[in-house]
Amino acid sequence: MRASFVSTGPLPGARFGGRVCLPGTAGAAALVEAAEADPAALPRLLAEAGGVLLLPAMGAMAEAPGLLLRLSRVFGPEVENYRTTGMAPNMVHPAVPEIFIVSNTPPVSRPPPKRPDPPFNPDGSLPVQFPHRRGWHTDQSYRRPPPDISLFLAVVPVPRDQRQTLFADGTAAYAALPPALKARVDGVHEWTAGDLVVRDNRCTVHAATRFDAERLERVIWRTTVGGNPGPGYAGERPSWLAAAE
Ligand SMILES: [Fe+2]
Repeated sequence: MRASFVSTGPLPGARFGGRVCLPGTAGAAALVEAAEADPAALPRLLAEAGGVLLLPAMGAMAEAPGLLLRLSRVFGPEVENYRTTGMAPNMVHPAVPEIFIVSNTPPVSRPPPKRPDPPFNPDGSLPVQFPHRRGWHTDQSYRRPPPDISLFLAVVPVPRDQRQTLFADGTAAYAALPPALKARVDGVHEWTAGDLVVRDNRCTVHAATRFDAERLERVIWRTTVGGNPGPGYAGERPSWLAAAE
């Protein structure tokens, strides 16, 4: 059955990205059921939006983490099980090992990125461009094959102007070279609790900004989807897994 997802874009302040809703339904469980019933719908919208989708109001997943795993499986055949890939146990969700927890709270206790220098631009905004903002990346680009898609659920975000995630359209940046050898930083996504962001690792780059970890708590859940690397990796064993003998 075709689901009636509606994607509006680009995201505010950006030139790409889409915000997805499913009119007539409410809640994360209904959205996941619709996505499973029409499994091509959300991947198609992700591609059409240039590699970033925002699904607001998915906060119920924090109480039902299996929903995040089910939605991740809509985007690809392999969802990484962090217990099998060497991740420190304190960073893995105790009930759903496909969820990697990014947080400054125990037991994860991961510090935020370093304070940029200068910490703010003259107009008060966050520095987002090199050299003040380093660390633009795609996830695990050292792997063969690298992952395809990541899903991020804002369980406990921090307030505006604190830790955010910056996205840039890698396809557009590539198309602009040369002569415009500069990153296109197309917008700052401001996290709200219950936001679920789906990001295509193959055509976007992203960077984290700092937050005041002495004062604020932040919890984000992430899943990593793979399994569709393309013919360039045909016949290769995943580089990050020990060879099974
Ligand atoms: Fe990342």
